[in-house]
Amino acid sequence: MRIGLFDSGVGGLTVLKSFIKYHPSNEYFYYGDTLNVPYGEKTIDELYSYSKRIINYLKEKKVDIIVIACGTISSNLYDRLKEEIEIPIYSVLSELPEYVKNKGYKKTLVMATNASINSHIFKRNLPSEVIEVKCPLLVPMIESNNYNGLDEVLSNYLKDKEGIDSLVLGCTHYPLIRNEIEKMLDKNVDIIDLGEILAKKIITKDSFFSLDLFFSKESENLRENVNKILNN
Ligand code: DGL
Repeated sequence: MRIGLFDSGVGGLTVLKSFIKYHPSNEYFYYGDTLNVPYGEKTIDELYSYSKRIINYLKEKKVDIIVIACGTISSNLYDRLKEEIEIPIYSVLSELPEYVKNKGYKKTLVMATNASINSHIFKRNLPSEVIEVKCPLLVPMIESNNYNGLDEVLSNYLKDKEGIDSLVLGCTHYPLIRNEIEKMLDKNVDIIDLGEILAKKIITKDSFFSLDLFFSKESENLRENVNKILNN
């Protein structure tokens, strides 16, 4: 099966990795929109026009399904894109409410981009008490591979973590700093990786493995970053 995934940059590679882990025999097409990163700071109109351009690119690759490997597009535009596109399209947030419900979590902290939190989709859709935290500094750090001051930034973002039993990595870049987040939390807090819970649930029709990666802008550290992420 031909599976297209897209994100603003390298973050969606965490979703791609989960898909490859659970469904290794598929043909993958990945679009990282590094020209327009960070999506979290863009308007809905801008996000819509980027998404349409990328979806057309993936359609030309003749993909059977599209996975929005981006929390920001998923939280703001999934319903609209789903209506408009004739091939099956999945949001990286689809499995989250069910997952939180099944686990019986009572208090969830959601870390996500400005645009995702502004949509309030987490407060609307999760059955637990939700603390929404905007984390605009994380994507630029991850894309540039420059983690100076990360611990201080994280402890500020996590200042309301008291009493949580679950934490959602609401942006697909954040699994790349999971260890740094984890060390600031109590051991019993479940850290939820959106790509992981979606990939586990989706059923694919296996064929053979291939991988086609495209980024809309090359930067100095991009290839190094991509290799590090995919080979870790
Ligand atoms: N990885 C993205 C997300 O899941 C995009 C973040 C950004 O570019 O700001 O929200």
